[in-house]
Formats: sequence, C-alpha cells, structure tokens
Amino acid sequence: MARLKLVVLISGRGSNLQALIDACAEPDFPAEISLIISNRADAGGLTRAETAGIATAVVPHGNYPDRETFDSALSATIADAGGELICLAGFMRVLTAGFVDQWRDRLINIHPSLLPAFRGLDTHARALAEGVRLTGCTVHYVRTEVDAGPIIVQAGVPVMPDDDEATLATRVLAAEHQCYPLAVRLIAEGRTSVHGESVTISGPTNCPNTLINPSL
Ligand code: GRF
Repeated sequence: MARLKLVVLISGRGSNLQALIDACAEPDFPAEISLIISNRADAGGLTRAETAGIATAVVPHGNYPDRETFDSALSATIADAGGELICLAGFMRVLTAGFVDQWRDRLINIHPSLLPAFRGLDTHARALAEGVRLTGCTVHYVRTEVDAGPIIVQAGVPVMPDDDEATLATRVLAAEHQCYPLAVRLIAEGRTSVHGESVTISGPTNCPNTLINPSL
C-alpha cells in the first residue's frame, strides 16, 4: 500500500519532527516525509532533516508582505511536494483561514496541553500556576481558531510536586514524541473520521482506564 505523503512544518528545534522521522524509518510505518518546510533558515530541525536525507525548503515569512501571500507560498510548496497530510511541529506562525480551509482535515498540530485547557503559549507555566495535577499533550486537526479542532490523540501526564517549567516540559515532550507518530499512523491507516467537532477512531485501541495523581 502507498505510504501517506507528509509535509512537516517547523520553526525550531524539531524534536517532534525527529519523532516523525524515526517513525517513518520503520518499515511498516504507513507514512513517509516528502518535505520539511521551515519559516526560519536557522531552525535546528533543518539539520535533523538533512541528517535523515529528507528534502527541505525554507519559506521565510519576512519575505512576504502579509499572511495571505506567505500562506499561498506555503500551499504551493506543499502541493508541489505532493503533500497529503501537513503536520505542524512547533510551527510558530498563525495560519490564515484560507490556508486552513484549503487543507481542512489534512492539517494537524501538536500542542503541549490537554486541550481545550491551556491554548496558546506558556502552557507549562500556566499549568503549574493553576496547580493542575494532570496535564499532557494533544494532536488535533487544525481549525481557524488557534489550538482548537477535532482531537485525534491525547496523553495525560502527571504534574509532580517539585516540578518546574523545564521538568514538566521534558515529561510532556516525551509523551508528545509518542502521540504524534500514533496520530499520523491512525490517519494514514484510514482509521480516523471527523464528525462535527470530534474524531471517531475505528478498529481496536487500548489504553488505561484511569490515571490518578497522586496515587498511594
Ligand atoms: C512542542 O512542545 C509542541 O507541542 C509545540 O511546540 C513545541 C515544538 O517542539 N507546538 P519541537 O520543535 O518539536 O522540539
């Protein structure tokens, strides 16, 4: 069966990109990365792409007069690469409604919180300030509202008593690296369908009933 062609959009270090590169290197993984696009020439993730021998493109947002022309350039680059699913992986630009609609249900994002809690930036600092016992990460289809859209995969991650932003981010990031390849696999295997604001997963799934924190 043909593997689903991914285009991954990054702005920074690219650890989630690395998780996708590693997953795609597995012989039975049902997707492959056709192109990695960064809006920043200095993104660390570009080095990961080059090491893996995957094509890259830099589309610098500063070269375009407005969001619409930048997003049109992105769209053309993705289409030229034959992209079938766009994975935002630490891509730090807000996309226009035109772009989101054009790629509707073919555009996913990973966010470091249990959405709909803590949309936006500084999720871990805000989770610590609110004293939540559980946080996590979410892979979701993208809609025009930032950090919103039908949820594909979530992982719950406990907040420990001595956590600071860095330790919590590290724990959540480890979960992100499991969730993103899982979400891509589910989509590539045709197991996700979007109904209104939620996603149905077909076929067998397996997960613990309850994560309790603290537990004695
Ligand atoms: C991740 O925490 C992701 O959830 C968020 O941006 C961060 C990107 O990290 N959207 P990396 O570049 O994948 O290491």
